[in-house]
Amino acid sequence: ELIHRGPDAHLRLILRSPSSERTPEDLELIFEELSEQKALAHLPNSVKRELASVVVFEAHPKSGHTLFRQGDDGKAWYVIMQGAVNVETYSKGVVESLYEGEDFGGLALIHNVPRSATITVKEDNTHLLRVDKDSYNKIVRDIEANTVRLKELGSDVLVLEKSPRLHKYMIIAGTPQKILEHLLEHRLSSTNVAGSRNDPCLDDFLLTHIVFMPTRTLVSELNKYYHMENPSQDREYTINCKRKVVQFVYRWVVTIRHPVFDDVVSMSFIEELASDVEADCQLLGGKSQALQEEASLMHHIMSRLRRYQDERLETSGLKWKLPPGGQPICLFSAISNPSKNNRPIIRPNDDIIFRVYCADHTFCTLRLPVNATAETIKVGAYEKCSLRHPVQDLRIVEVKSNGERVPFRDSEHSIPTTVALNSCIFLTPKDHMDALTCVPEQEKSEGAEISGDFDSLSTKELAYHMTLFDWELFWNVHEYELIYLTFGRHRFQQITANLDIFLRRFNEIQYWVITEICTSQNISKRTNILKKMIKLATYCKEYYNFNAFFAILMGLSDVAVSRLSTTWDKLPSKSRKQFTEYETLIDPSRNHRAYRITVGKLPSPMIPFMPLLIKDMKFTHDGNKTHVDGLVNFEKMHMLAQTMRTLRYCRARHLVLEPPVSKNEADVKSYVSCLRCVNNERTLMSMSQKLEPRRT
Ligand code: CMP
Repeated sequence: ELIHRGPDAHLRLILRSPSSERTPEDLELIFEELSEQKALAHLPNSVKRELASVVVFEAHPKSGHTLFRQGDDGKAWYVIMQGAVNVETYSKGVVESLYEGEDFGGLALIHNVPRSATITVKEDNTHLLRVDKDSYNKIVRDIEANTVRLKELGSDVLVLEKSPRLHKYMIIAGTPQKILEHLLEHRLSSTNVAGSRNDPCLDDFLLTHIVFMPTRTLVSELNKYYHMENPSQDREYTINCKRKVVQFVYRWVVTIRHPVFDDVVSMSFIEELASDVEADCQLLGGKSQALQEEASLMHHIMSRLRRYQDERLETSGLKWKLPPGGQPICLFSAISNPSKNNRPIIRPNDDIIFRVYCADHTFCTLRLPVNATAETIKVGAYEKCSLRHPVQDLRIVEVKSNGERVPFRDSEHSIPTTVALNSCIFLTPKDHMDALTCVPEQEKSEGAEISGDFDSLSTKELAYHMTLFDWELFWNVHEYELIYLTFGRHRFQQITANLDIFLRRFNEIQYWVITEICTSQNISKRTNILKKMIKLATYCKEYYNFNAFFAILMGLSDVAVSRLSTTWDKLPSKSRKQFTEYETLIDPSRNHRAYRITVGKLPSPMIPFMPLLIKDMKFTHDGNKTHVDGLVNFEKMHMLAQTMRTLRYCRARHLVLEPPVSKNEADVKSYVSCLRCVNNERTLMSMSQKLEPRRT
């Protein structure tokens, strides 16, 4: 045997002896040897001393020997003292070689899952130090390198970093395929169900994969994995792969819900998978009942799907009407069972009825699918309006109530729900855009005629019905809509209508507050309304409706209101104090710290201050690249998912509120569903100035 370096014969003898037989002198000798290993150079002496009593020396004179196979239980961790090994996977063959000073085999031990690769000796006379699982967990696990980089063909494919809290590696970056493979192999094991609950990696992936791995690619990878062949025909391993795919799909459906069922790509994959599992259960299962559990998981998924499809049939083809400056109203639906009078989700193929104006303020009314493109709207309106320009010279433009004009590209879609509250959609020749002016409806103070109602309604009842209304809007917002909005709807060809109208509601409340105050001519009445608004905020806060709470507070802080000093002066000191207290809660400084601390301590259900979640998403998106050095920046995905999980947390429980004693429920409900308001800042400001002219 040609051994140039490494321990001498005596030392090897000791290293092969069971640790219980090692004498103090033996241990000292081993320690000295370990101290010379560059693979262990980063470890403190105390650890090396502990290792001295447990390491085992392994010499492999011939290349080709297999140390362990992918799918095996993890039994030990290895350090290469001399020579080299190959890392091999069933799907790709040899992916990488490891050399002197490198270690391997720790992943299966840390995550308590099967081996993710086969390791074979690459060079003759390869010397390894082996540390068994128990000793590894006791001695090495906690001090092992913080970052693990898995390579294939010389490039990083997965970067993991140890989380001190979880005793697990978090995914930092990786190729989409390798991340998925790692999740399937390391984060789905049934042996660590308890651990996987606080392991967010899989959840991060499910919530964000559409950003870096389209569903089409995802299902094709899952398909490959399900049908993975392995050369050794290891039945156990084959079954395990199938199991993981089913478990993964189950988690996917539970986490993402209706978008999985709405997408034909994922749907046909799941249907196929269900029949594959059924067949495999017969074929492979036999007496051992393998895949039995998976077959019943698939049944569960399929019955969920059927139920969903039935519900969809009932609510398909909804028709919405979008009044200028209000919420879309569901006009008609084929819902055969009106007992569930929850507000339906707006879907891409629902119809929406809205107006399109021309420069002379004539308008036509269109009925188009929510996801219609600007081009479709253009053609639709062109056919109804009598414009002399050729259609290709025309444009769809949003005119805001402050006169601002925002043109749309022909390919943009879901325009009616995304335009700002009280904006109007115009059709105009390209070179006429600058001449567009607001239509009278946008200028008019619609609220004026009805402002009397607010006075007479019970504040608590208002807060109650506002909260129920907001809850329905909030309930329909899907986590994915946050991604669509942040990364751009066009990238996903998806709508954000449910999120749009929830954000629209925020503005609606805000303007309504200003309008109510600015349309009260009489000073004592105005003070009264101000007081009532503060009270309303109090109730909303008690109901954990922070969206409405912020909207009311921001309305009250608008200059048109805050400048009415005579009104504020007459406010009772109790209300004044309360307002000051609330102002600290909505204070945006230190990234809305006051609000974050307050809600951080509260249980669900809760309606969060939605614009802040949007801001968090945008902030994460703008401040972090999606890809770094060709790998998916998974830390960014984790941050996005954290924000998205807020929605899940807020809605973890259904909202059940004690209804207040009702005086006139119907009035309150109809009032709340359509808060009429002036959404024109200029108009509001001039109303305010008329009420209390500037003191000179
Ligand atoms: P483990 O899963 O315990 O067993 C196989 C080991 O190979 C794995 O831990 C890693 O330490 C090591 N390894 C190195 N490169 C790769 C790779 N590209 N893919 C998988 N495992 C790898």
